[in-house]
Amino acid sequence: MSSVRPRRKISVADIRRRKGGEPFVCLTAYTAMMAEILDPHVDVLLVGDSVGTVLHGHDATIPVTMDDMLLHAKSVARAAPNSLLAIDMPFGSYEADAATAFENASRLLKETGADAVKLEGGVTQAETIRFLVERGVPVMAHIGLRPQAVRATGGYRIVGKTEEECDALRADADAVAAAGAFSVVLEGVVEPLARELTERVDIPTIGIGASPACDGQILVTEDLLGMFNRTPKFVRRFAELRETIDAAVADYARAVRSRAFPSSAETYANDNGD
Ligand code: KIV
Repeated sequence: MSSVRPRRKISVADIRRRKGGEPFVCLTAYTAMMAEILDPHVDVLLVGDSVGTVLHGHDATIPVTMDDMLLHAKSVARAAPNSLLAIDMPFGSYEADAATAFENASRLLKETGADAVKLEGGVTQAETIRFLVERGVPVMAHIGLRPQAVRATGGYRIVGKTEEECDALRADADAVAAAGAFSVVLEGVVEPLARELTERVDIPTIGIGASPACDGQILVTEDLLGMFNRTPKFVRRFAELRETIDAAVADYARAVRSRAFPSSAETYANDNGD
């Protein structure tokens, strides 16, 4: 059943205040149509660079460009008046130096109307996060499994299984919180560590494959809608839209081929004009 709540625009400060409270709800959106459906239900909409794999058929997020992000974020912003709108900084748009990161982050905010940017990296990006935050760019950090780094790390691996990885992630979480990020996505992090990091930092953690211990949760919308054949362990399919679409399109094809569609009720006559 639909559970729409009365809404006002959610701000970065609102999300910060959700630390330790009722878990807040985040989803990805790439188009106005989806954003319009999701906006009444969620606290945060993320125009994720997962758009590259979900909509554009890439096998990773690395090929996603600034132009891709600008186009999709403008579309989402037109249809999501209430959620906090965050937008991913694509690979290559922020890593070289803080000034380039600011140039690209300010374009993303100015040209799309998004409220915040998200970027991947902990200790290595802390200086850039501080630079952006000091210049008025709200930053959501993203640590743990970092999809933009898969070519370097050798794949999509869950993080926090060794003491060395735990120490590195503790340092990443501390660094992004100290640098002024208003929240941090923990992706693919084992439960004990996700819980520890959530208790450790004073900013909200947003989990994806990181246990219920986080302050908020995010999923790729098309995953929860059951639009892919493959379902990672951390995803719950709340619908089976792939099957629904497949059956609907098969029905349509049958109806067209047998001339059952369009029927006379679906055909314009030239007498009354309706
Ligand atoms: O690109 C993305 O969709 C993300 C998520 C956290 C889901 O980064």
